[in-house]
Amino acid sequence: MKNNRTIAIIGAMDCEVNKLKELLESPEALKYGNLNISTGVINSHRVIIAKSGVGKVNAALNTQYIIDKFNPEMVINTGIAGGIATGLQVGDIVIGKELVQYDFDTSALGYAKGYMCTGVNPDKPTKFYSDEKLINEFENTASKIHPEIKVHKGIIATGDTFVSSSEKKREIKEIFNASAVEMEGCAIAQTCYANSIPVLIIRAISDLADGSAAESLDVFEQKMAEVSSSTIVSLLRTFS
Ligand code: ADE
Repeated sequence: MKNNRTIAIIGAMDCEVNKLKELLESPEALKYGNLNISTGVINSHRVIIAKSGVGKVNAALNTQYIIDKFNPEMVINTGIAGGIATGLQVGDIVIGKELVQYDFDTSALGYAKGYMCTGVNPDKPTKFYSDEKLINEFENTASKIHPEIKVHKGIIATGDTFVSSSEKKREIKEIFNASAVEMEGCAIAQTCYANSIPVLIIRAISDLADGSAAESLDVFEQKMAEVSSSTIVSLLRTFS
């Protein structure tokens, strides 16, 4: 017997969700504010695919809306990111094992950068986490079905800036030990944590967050968004 799940998949931009939407059986579309949602079926699972818009506020409020309306069993975030870890290349995948908000900054008050005024561990950045079981399932699937893709697991740093300088990249790497940088992941993970819903943050590297980032994004955005979403499709096909 198949255990049919309700799975929400969130991407910030059209290029991050369009290929997924094409795979939906019995698709239905709805709109709520700037949030475009498609629902349907993949591998017998009820799938909700949402284009949230870019940035932390869009990501958080739209994740909450999807949770309230559809009560998903899990939330998966797919998309692109700038690579920070040494050796990462365009086309690699980063699993956000841990997520931080690198632009949450109360260091002027003596707290660590990234500490989100939670009252816990003010000397460290506040972290949110992808679900361990989902990470394992993703790693197994990726190694079997996409052996050509290098999968890295690490800290993803989220903030409301497209990072495109070696200086900023170095700073994020030094302070947060981040592997990649993007603009929604931690907000989605934080919202899922607040609702006790497992989350998985998956990103394909589209650029190296340095002076060439805008140019690289221009060339690789679409393709890397599809690399990320194709691995998510493979994951959905393994869920029984
Ligand atoms: N998404 C893809 N590349 C990025 C970058 N360099 N900075 C922030 N978000 C990104």
